[in-house]
Amino acid sequence: MLGIESSCDETGVALVRGAQLLGHAVASSVDEHVRFGGVVPEIASRAHLEALLPTMRRACEEAGATLADVDAVAVTAGPGLAGALLVGVAAAKALALALDVPLLGVNHLVAHVAVDVLVSGALPERSVALLVSGGHTELLDVRSPAGTGVGALRVELLGQTLDDAAGEAFDKVARLLGLPYPGGPHVQRAAESGDPAAFAFPRGLTAAHDLRRHPYDFSFSGLKTAVARQVDAHRRAGGEVDGPFVADVAASFSEAVADVLARKTVSAAQDRGVQTVLLGGGVAANARVRGLLAERCEAAGLALRVPPLRLCTDNGAMVAALGALALADGLGPSPLDLATDPGLPV
Ligand code: KG4
Ligand code: ZN
Repeated sequence: MLGIESSCDETGVALVRGAQLLGHAVASSVDEHVRFGGVVPEIASRAHLEALLPTMRRACEEAGATLADVDAVAVTAGPGLAGALLVGVAAAKALALALDVPLLGVNHLVAHVAVDVLVSGALPERSVALLVSGGHTELLDVRSPAGTGVGALRVELLGQTLDDAAGEAFDKVARLLGLPYPGGPHVQRAAESGDPAAFAFPRGLTAAHDLRRHPYDFSFSGLKTAVARQVDAHRRAGGEVDGPFVADVAASFSEAVADVLARKTVSAAQDRGVQTVLLGGGVAANARVRGLLAERCEAAGLALRVPPLRLCTDNGAMVAALGALALADGLGPSPLDLATDPGLPV
């Protein structure tokens, strides 16, 4: 199974056989977005066009395979940036047609979950997954009934962010602190020498949100505003936004994000009676997010599975993994007029 991912700023191509990752390559256009402080869709689309064939070549080389060895093609059909998705889907269609093999359109969010089979060989029968990236923040209920990794995967959305994604919040706070884009890694580095209890940043949702009906939704815009106010107040008092102040804000902000993510994830797992928590998305790179989630999972007797970072961020392997699961389940193939869907739900 050859998998193609192009929903945001990463062009990913991978080859898998069942639950075995044979080779994968990723090209990122992140450097081209730096001066805009965020992903520019048109730039991302063009970068995918340029990167796709070289990335495909690299993935094949790593797998010791040629396109003639490909039995099926999976591609992210959504959710994601419209133009970016189109590039991957057009390439996948052309490949499937030229090689006369089945085409499978897959859901990007479900693929973030499915990637776990490449690490663990199988998905647990039931689990709760937390996906945290620059584009999305979701809590999912995951069922893989056979528990073998080839069972029909059923994913239900438990909650999501109502405003900023967790990674986006890191990126915006970084900007407030004068740190470069993408902000996550810079905020993490600054936080290392800061005091996580220096500022009591808000953790909750607004009272207007019905928390009884949607206990697993997230909101990060209030937190970002609280950071902005703190920075303003500091400036008005004549302070410079640097050194220990930046470190303390970064640490306190990271603590607030990690606390909310861990608290809701653990309570979702407990409410649903599952034993396993899956973590995915670029924010899984954050040491405090991973660390606090691990701590709270252990205290609650939950197993935490975090794929290696290169499989947490967007990549082709997760798409190929889900494509292989779907094909093994007798799902698909998708028609050659497969449409992209930027707002595709789970
Ligand atoms: O999954 P990803 O590579 O791309 C998508 O957004 O789909 O995630 C990128 C996001 C960015 O917002 C970035 O700031 C954040 O993940 N990120 C981090 C860290 N490394 C990357 N956030 C916090 N701490 C990190 N160490
Ligand atoms: Zn993603």
